[in-house]
Amino acid sequence: MTAASHQEPGIEIESFAPSPRALVTFESVTKIFGHLVALRNVSFRVTEGEVVCLIGPSGSGKSTALRCANGLESVTSGRVIFEGTDIAARNVDLRAIRQRAGMVFQNFELFPHLTALRNISLAPSLAGGLSKQDADAVALELLHKVGLPEKADQYPSALSGGQQQRVAIARALAMKPDLMLFDEPTSALDPETIGEVLNVMNQLAEEGMTMIVVTHEMDFARRVADRVIVFDHGEIIEVGSPEQIFEAATVPRTREFLSHLGWHQESPSSSRRRRKNKHQKTGRGPE
Ligand SMILES: Nc1ncnc2c1ncn2[C@@H]1O[C@H](COP(=O)(O)OP(=O)(O)O)[C@@H](O)[C@H]1O
Ligand SMILES: [Mg+2]
Repeated sequence: MTAASHQEPGIEIESFAPSPRALVTFESVTKIFGHLVALRNVSFRVTEGEVVCLIGPSGSGKSTALRCANGLESVTSGRVIFEGTDIAARNVDLRAIRQRAGMVFQNFELFPHLTALRNISLAPSLAGGLSKQDADAVALELLHKVGLPEKADQYPSALSGGQQQRVAIARALAMKPDLMLFDEPTSALDPETIGEVLNVMNQLAEEGMTMIVVTHEMDFARRVADRVIVFDHGEIIEVGSPEQIFEAATVPRTREFLSHLGWHQESPSSSRRRRKNKHQKTGRGPE
């Protein structure tokens, strides 16, 4: 029974709703490499169940932000709070944090000498405390989930890029993460295999997985994201719903970036989007 069913008509019920749990919070994060400011005063929060897409030009700090989110990169100033813990604090178990934040990279980074199944079951059997048999059972379940049960005994070199990336997603899921971080997961793929990876990501989002996704797949961001964060030169220049960012961005640099990718913003009175022909041809997206 929900709080709403106890309420008289017209009584405000918002205050009874539990506030969503923050999984990751960036508080004024700055990251400097030598003389280069990769992130400048970046603040945002991702709450449980949210899908947040990070977009922006190459070199704008998106990957650095992802890597700071799970402690792969330390911050120069500011704080990253992961599930209530400042990850720069002393005594923080960064390995434990990375297990709670599964990461998927552009280039899959599977172990070439291990089968698909073993790539997935390795961490649960080594770090997760499962027997090899139980870890393999979990891995097979995950291969079913990403649509590749028949590839269990194949080595990565025998798989297409899209299949390797689906195995990499299964591997990241094997430690039962609370958060999934995706860094341009489809950028290295042949166009015909992009859709199968986006489908798996779409399915995860529908199941309620919290996700931060760096992507240039604007169709995906438009359809799946709850929120879109636009980076430029290490700064967040605009944040909004996909509708706002893709149809009514207010910051000129956002509009410029999207138009480089073939997106043309419409006036608010029109709901149709126009795309450049080369993007229409790929027919991508988890339909
Ligand atoms: N380990 C590093 N050492 C030095 N500079 C880096 C390092 N990682 C990233 N950078 C620089 O930081 C900036 C932001 O990079 P990155 O976060 O990879 O951007 P994006 O993912 O948006 O393309 C770039 O100028 C990049 O060259
Ligand atoms: Mg990057």
